[in-house]
Amino acid sequence: MKTVGIVGSPRIGNTSFLVKEALNILGHEGIDTELVHLKGKEVKPCDGCLRCKKELKCVIQGDDFDALFETMKEADGIILGSPVYFGSATPQMMSLLDRAAYVQRQTREYFSGKIGGPIVVARRAGHNFTLAQLLLWYFINDMIVVGSTYWNIAVAGSAGKHDIEDDKEGIETVRHFAKSMSFVMKKLNS
Ligand SMILES: Cc1cc2nc3c(=O)[nH]c(=O)nc-3n(C[C@H](O)[C@H](O)[C@H](O)COP(=O)(O)O)c2cc1C
Repeated sequence: MKTVGIVGSPRIGNTSFLVKEALNILGHEGIDTELVHLKGKEVKPCDGCLRCKKELKCVIQGDDFDALFETMKEADGIILGSPVYFGSATPQMMSLLDRAAYVQRQTREYFSGKIGGPIVVARRAGHNFTLAQLLLWYFINDMIVVGSTYWNIAVAGSAGKHDIEDDKEGIETVRHFAKSMSFVMKKLNS
């Protein structure tokens, strides 16, 4: 069994820290993990050509989408981590999710039954909106979402003023989520 953690930030910072926390717990529970940063990768936005309806794959070429989509398809679990950018998930994350979901909608097989959940980081506001945005992606893709003792959110700024490591509750919430996720993965695959 494998879980991929996708970090939608264009930098390696707070979101990466939290997704790594989750993957570490899953790793300790015996689940293979892979950390994927969208930083340094290009994923063009969906252009609405709808050719995926016929071809059952995304036909946009010349970026990193195909490799990322393969990684998502192969995993049993998918964690999506995003910082809040003006009240929503990053455009890097949404480009990937839009295209992946539209292909999934044509096939109804790639993501069905996979397990996961979102992780969101912001300096001050927009956590719940972004969390909901990512949850809606899981739900429309026929996936199984795992909860925690609080929403999977953390407070951390970009200039070290609100340091991610100071948000003990956020880290604990994410660790609990990862433990529950490994529990569900093992139950469903036993
Ligand atoms: C373009 C941009 C927009 C942002 N918008 C918000 C926002 O709406 N609300 C908020 O609380 N923080 C906002 N932030 C702050 C980031 O969410 C915060 O610094 C986060 O910890 C960054 O995560 P990262 O280190 O994984 O990139 C924004 C940062 C940037 C660069």
